Amino acid sequence: MTSKPDYGIDAPGVIRNLFLASGCAFVLALFAPALLHLGPLVVSLRVTAWAIGIGCSASGFLMLLYAKKGKFLHRDRMLKLHIWRGSEQVLDVGTGRGLLLIGAARRITTGHAIGIDIWNKDDLSGNALDRTERNLAFEGVTEKCSLASEGAQKMSFPNESFDVILSNLCLHNIYDQPTRLQACKEIVRVLKTGGMAIISDYKSTNEYAKAFRNEGLRVERKRPNLLTTYPPLRILVVRKTQ
Ligand SMILES: C[S@@+](CC[C@H](N)C(=O)[O-])C[C@H]1O[C@@H](n2cnc3c(N)ncnc32)[C@H](O)[C@@H]1O
Repeated sequence: MTSKPDYGIDAPGVIRNLFLASGCAFVLALFAPALLHLGPLVVSLRVTAWAIGIGCSASGFLMLLYAKKGKFLHRDRMLKLHIWRGSEQVLDVGTGRGLLLIGAARRITTGHAIGIDIWNKDDLSGNALDRTERNLAFEGVTEKCSLASEGAQKMSFPNESFDVILSNLCLHNIYDQPTRLQACKEIVRVLKTGGMAIISDYKSTNEYAKAFRNEGLRVERKRPNLLTTYPPLRILVVRKTQ
């Protein structure tokens, strides 16, 4: 039990593996023979091991920095892309511990924000519905929010339910392309005409953009902010105009 909100560490297994790999590489760098002869090739084993060790530990450190600091700045950047009226119906797809859901809830007055997730602990540490409920209570937004356990690829909401749909670092976790594209179609289906989806991810954003355009939506791409996100996160601003 914590006494303050906890938004978890994204991809905790990946971070652990990066630090493990860097540890192994540093041991190799210290104790392996300096040169490795591979037929006519001579490889500088120690230099290579140092480079791998530094690369892996830097990546692990930057991912931790994103999880502890950067994601709050990234969340604010995403939420500033919409001009809030306060009456919006909002959906956060893959809400996890409620990062975007809570940010949106603070910007609405008469509106309502719903977060959906399948609560996968490999994608986010401590990922569970009751922990997200606790974060909503800590942040004082319980009344304005609800949570539902459902997948992005098959949502229970009627067509044209939401003015704003948000999603950060969720869709790439759907590993097969047809299901990812189905999730994009679901986002289009439940978004109101005149509504906006703000979708952020570190890969496959070209694929999502194409899927949204194929459904007749307008897509604007925003460059990643390299100071606040690692891996760099692109943002798609998707408008359903007709
Ligand atoms: C890296 S976490 C990001 C959580 C949150 N959006 C954030 O930015 O802090 C990815 C989230 O996507 C969720 N997720 C993965 N596949 C999903 C799916 N098919 N439908 C809904 N959520 C999914 C995971 O359970 C996890 O909570």
